[in-house]
Amino acid sequence: MAMFDLTGRVALVTGGSRGLGREDALALARAGCDVVVADLLIESDPNLQEVAAASGSVMAQVMAADRVVYTERTAAEIAQMGRRSKAVQMDVTDFQQAREAIDQVVAEFGHLDILVNNAGCHDHVGQLMDQSPELWDRDLKVNLTGAYNCSQAVWPHMRAQNYGRLIFMSSITGVGGGFGQASSATTSAGILGLMRSLALEGARHGITSNAVVAGIIATESFRTTPPEMVDRMVLRTALRAPGQPADVAAAVCYLVSQEAGYVTGVELPVAGGIDLFTF
Ligand SMILES: NC(=O)c1ccc[n+]([C@@H]2O[C@H](COP(=O)([O-])OP(=O)(O)OC[C@H]3O[C@@H](n4cnc5c(N)ncnc54)[C@H](O)[C@@H]3O)[C@@H](O)[C@H]2O)c1
Repeated sequence: MAMFDLTGRVALVTGGSRGLGREDALALARAGCDVVVADLLIESDPNLQEVAAASGSVMAQVMAADRVVYTERTAAEIAQMGRRSKAVQMDVTDFQQAREAIDQVVAEFGHLDILVNNAGCHDHVGQLMDQSPELWDRDLKVNLTGAYNCSQAVWPHMRAQNYGRLIFMSSITGVGGGFGQASSATTSAGILGLMRSLALEGARHGITSNAVVAGIIATESFRTTPPEMVDRMVLRTALRAPGQPADVAAAVCYLVSQEAGYVTGVELPVAGGIDLFTF
């Protein structure tokens, strides 16, 4: 049984081909939403591997090579639940593309109520002198500018209907820093400033804006993390285990629900207590 009733709402989830985005999309659909699943990678793209390689993302390349990209499959699973759904190929770094895709969703679905800014890259790992300026730029563009682009593209529609729910995906590294993760930690911190600003600006238009601050969550991309690094992170986590994508999806469903109507500008940690002092 779904925890919250989102019947009649329309959601768009970016980065929905796998991991947290796919789980968010499925959970929103179970709660009653029609869901558009957007991603740079889409199974039927004849240039899937080239697009993945151009993104610079190690994970994207691994997934494309293994054909483990589930954008269209996720949309089909949602349609099987009796909801309206659609897979959309969209590069969040391209404002024009984001705006056209979002305008098209509004034209087809009638409205767009929920935007989950989930697309992101967190595979640029290495201490400062081993980091690459190109991947730093990519991370700023995808993780920060991407969320900005999609939020700006949905804003006029949400304002016109005097209702909207924005979700931003941040990370515990954005709060505490991340050893060997300068670019993703920086963007995770930056996203919180964007989230809070839009909470302030959206409040008078019925738009709430909140962030999930994730700890270590066992998505597909997590499986490529070296086991000794996983062990260290789990030991630092009060609950002594990685979280599951469903833990994040439950938080997303709450934050976009009617019940969270008075909640805005919030950073909700789904982190098993990794942020707590431990010794
Ligand atoms: N998994 C974790 O432990 C964790 C922890 C904290 C924060 N996060 C954040 O949550 C989000 C999802 O994490 P995940 O583990 O599922 O990541 P992931 O790498 O498995 O999935 C990210 C998705 O974003 C898509 N994407 C990348 N660039 C894009 C672009 N330019 N346009 C559109 N889509 C693009 C990818 O194709 C992929 O489907 C990310 O923003 C990540 O930074 C994850």
